[in-house]
Amino acid sequence: MAREHAIAVIPGDGIGEEVIREGRKVLDALSSIFGFKLKYTDYPWGADHFLKTGVTMPDSALDEYRQHRAVYLGAIGDPRIEVGLLERAIIAGLRFKLDLYVNLRPIKLYDSRFCPLKDKKPADVDLVVVRENTEDAYTGIGGNFKQGTPDEIAIATMLYTRKGCERAIRYAFEIAKGRKRKKVTLIDKANAVRPQDIWTRAFADVAKENPGIETDHAYIDAACMWLVKNPESFDVCVMPNIFGDIFTDLGAMVQGGMGIAASGNLHPGKTSMFEPIHGSAPKYRGKNSANPLAAINAGGMMLDYLGEKEAAATCEKAIGGLLTSGRIRSLGAGDHPTTEIGDLVTAEVRKLAT
Ligand code: IPM
Ligand code: MN
Repeated sequence: MAREHAIAVIPGDGIGEEVIREGRKVLDALSSIFGFKLKYTDYPWGADHFLKTGVTMPDSALDEYRQHRAVYLGAIGDPRIEVGLLERAIIAGLRFKLDLYVNLRPIKLYDSRFCPLKDKKPADVDLVVVRENTEDAYTGIGGNFKQGTPDEIAIATMLYTRKGCERAIRYAFEIAKGRKRKKVTLIDKANAVRPQDIWTRAFADVAKENPGIETDHAYIDAACMWLVKNPESFDVCVMPNIFGDIFTDLGAMVQGGMGIAASGNLHPGKTSMFEPIHGSAPKYRGKNSANPLAAINAGGMMLDYLGEKEAAATCEKAIGGLLTSGRIRSLGAGDHPTTEIGDLVTAEVRKLAT
């Protein structure tokens, strides 16, 4: 019997639906080529559903996701809704409630012409960020007191647990073992924010258990500088949640823009979630102009997670080939119709498989 993987799909808001449609086009081609089945369940969460029903994402959906191997998400966010409400309920809700403790974000340059940095080649920009994904300033612990008065106080807590940093660090060392460079860089701000020393100590302990892996350290401010000046100095990077959020947007630009950057929100061995890093870009909704490569790439990461290694590698190779050969000219919105990019990648994976 063919291997079958159950996938929960949340297209979401803005361009989410269009980019997920193209992602599924490619996934379906790969599944027919490589002989596995994807069984999708669609979920309507997002602004339209919230405006109609008052429901963001019910907790019952989480039990259903747990019956799936993965969640494939498009984009969440809509200007008609209070800032961050949907993002916190759906994206952060998935990350926290499914305990998706690693946010894996590859930063890979496919062709020099996409890089805003002078003289940088694909070999110079090939790193992976392991962003801790369940702690830090994202826990929501804190709040506002005497709001709207001159005496207002706001508290946001940067919370780190030994377990939380250690499991992200361990994951970083694990993936470093499978890479050529075998190097892990810890990125923090433990000089100024002293409690982040918990990261320093956890990193030192895990490093001791992994003598074959080279280690390095950078403070987040300097790391941003290095990412622009010497991106080739990084291989695997591990860092707290909020720094990872910021660092990977910078990384996305270094690899050519939000049109290509994908991520996996992982709890190894359990239901994990895959999404493009970009937002919902409401102004492009329904225009068939958004670039779906990030969503397609996220689909490829999902296949890799599902153990469909050959299909995942073919997806990556197809995207790489289309970009380096110039058949996909740009990573921006509007240069190719959304559907055309999905068709091109689909045709390319078919070609690679024959
Ligand atoms: C991301 C996004 C989210 C984050 C938002 C939408 C809550 O920026 O996935 O990087 O801050 O993590
Ligand atoms: Mn972000």
